[in-house]
Amino acid sequence: MEDFKGKVAVITGAASGIGKALARQCVAQGMNVAIVDLYLEGLSALTEELEQRGAKVLSESVDVSDMAAMKAFAARCVAEFGPVSVLFNNAGILRVGQTWEHTAEEWQKILSVNVMGVVNGVSAFVPGMIEAGIPAQIVNTGSVGSLVAAPGMAQYTACKMAVRGVTESLAYDLAAAAPHIDVSLLCPGPVSTPISDSLLGIAPGSEESEANVKMMQEQPDFITPDDCAERVFKAIRERKFWIFTHPFSNYYKRTSEAVADGINPVFVDVEFD
Ligand SMILES: NC(=O)c1ccc[n+]([C@@H]2O[C@H](COP(=O)([O-])OP(=O)(O)OC[C@H]3O[C@@H](n4cnc5c(N)ncnc54)[C@H](O)[C@@H]3O)[C@@H](O)[C@H]2O)c1
Repeated sequence: MEDFKGKVAVITGAASGIGKALARQCVAQGMNVAIVDLYLEGLSALTEELEQRGAKVLSESVDVSDMAAMKAFAARCVAEFGPVSVLFNNAGILRVGQTWEHTAEEWQKILSVNVMGVVNGVSAFVPGMIEAGIPAQIVNTGSVGSLVAAPGMAQYTACKMAVRGVTESLAYDLAAAAPHIDVSLLCPGPVSTPISDSLLGIAPGSEESEANVKMMQEQPDFITPDDCAERVFKAIRERKFWIFTHPFSNYYKRTSEAVADGINPVFVDVEFD
């Protein structure tokens, strides 16, 4: 897609971080936006900001892990705004810890948001996008973790590798059934957002959260959410499936060669190109 003006974008997890920057970038491109999140304060502040900039905004508190709620939101969105041109399945949470320590409830929670949240977005919106027949784009948010496992990250890695699998299969399915819809997997490297706070009950914007954001911003490889959103739009224009905010092709070549050669994995920190 190249022409965004007057079109409709849906962004999940839009009240913070990358989702908020994507929503702002959509509006900068002249789009109207339908945004969902569970962080209501952030959602209403963003709604007000985007409306002041002239966009039409549909915002609703929707849990992406709730398929029925996502389908109801999709129906409302099409009824009020018309066909959807860009779908960002972005909402996600993070929990770190030893692989054997997470409870069944913790596994259920992260899988229901990070994996089923993407699946539900696809199930709710894609049938309408196929039927509309207009050029469209789906961006599912994975991570570097969609391609590289890391210690202490079993839950996140499991989710993000699943998102990669779902997204690649979706791209094959749509290439055959609805070639007017492009599909991308967004694999962000480090982006300075409050993501690690969301499961810990730390409200975005609070003193504790700001300290975390500041700490993240001081890391060498971190980029801002706005930079991330700009890189995403550039990649959409270039019709890229793989969207790497921080390319790591040399590292990935080494690790995939080791797999092909049957060499046992030894974790080495990801080096970006
Ligand atoms: N920040 C990074 O460095 C980084 C790196 C790789 C991938 N990602 C991915 O980017 C995406 C956005 O993360 P972020 O860094 O902007 O984090 P963030 O915490 O700033 O934003 C995530 C948003 O999702 C919302 N959310 C969480 N659970 C939800 C649910 N069940 N229903 C609806 N909304 C929900 C949160 O309230 C929050 O507003 C996530 O999928 C994350 O895994 C982030």
